[in-house]
Amino acid sequence: MTVEYVHGYSEQETGRLRDQADTLAALLHEGTAYPAGSRVLEVGCGVGAQTVHLVANSPGARVTAVEVDGDSLERARARVTAEHPGAAVEWHRADLYDLPFPEGSFDHLFVCFVLEHLPDPERALCALRRLLRPGGTVTVIEGDHGTAVFHPDSRHARAVIDCQVRLQAAAGGDALIGRRLQPLLARAGYGDIAVRPRTVYADRTLPGMVDGFTRRTFIPVFESLGDDALAMGLTTEDDWRRGIADLYRTVEDGGTFHYAFFKATAVNPLPDTGR
Ligand SMILES: C[S@@+](CC[C@H](N)C(=O)[O-])C[C@H]1O[C@@H](n2cnc3c(N)ncnc32)[C@H](O)[C@@H]1O
Repeated sequence: MTVEYVHGYSEQETGRLRDQADTLAALLHEGTAYPAGSRVLEVGCGVGAQTVHLVANSPGARVTAVEVDGDSLERARARVTAEHPGAAVEWHRADLYDLPFPEGSFDHLFVCFVLEHLPDPERALCALRRLLRPGGTVTVIEGDHGTAVFHPDSRHARAVIDCQVRLQAAAGGDALIGRRLQPLLARAGYGDIAVRPRTVYADRTLPGMVDGFTRRTFIPVFESLGDDALAMGLTTEDDWRRGIADLYRTVEDGGTFHYAFFKATAVNPLPDTGR
């Protein structure tokens, strides 16, 4: 059971996902809390970086966490069990396109930073909708690298970001997927769709964001992909090194960084309302 996943499953990526989730928890999880007893499905839970926030914010919910990579799933289980020993979480190693649950098994679905890696996110959303009961909700959170705006501006830094977008596309994903969430959910049959950007901004007056987001979450995405970008002929060593160095200038005194995530909520329509 394997998927092509552009970021890989290294220790560094585990740390990056954890830093990302913890730095952005208030921003991304605000408004996401499920009633006690409700059945929540999280797909692509990775190393549990979002799962810990889900169970912290919805302590009585019954969470089912699914991940296709076995090592990540075990790390997720270990972390959540250690930090929330009383949480009701079931763990499944499975492919989200082919889950072993009957139709209508869940009240809520949570998908964070997963659709961007899938060749056919609409098919995934359709398959997952069948697992929601009518009236059940979905929450989807994705980034969009087109929203990265920074100072000092640099064409080399922008070229590095563009290389990552092209590498992810070559792996079948879409690093610009945030802007597509509304049409994707609509085509997958969801109703009551609401998509709102959740903006990250970092400068020296917000040192937690500079360190947690720009330095430890955003830039490392690109640093680890230099060899792949070179192998595909997307850049030269000099241009790549210059682009990474210019990204680091945004965390120095006088540097600024802006990025927007897109958070969508929607409903699996009731049969008689057609909503
Ligand atoms: C960027 S990580 C995000 C992990 C977690 N949601 C988070 O925000 O920290 C994407 C995860 O989706 C998983 N994934 C990708 N395709 C999948 C599939 N078809 N079925 C289940 N998991 C999948 C990957 O293995 C990876 O762990």
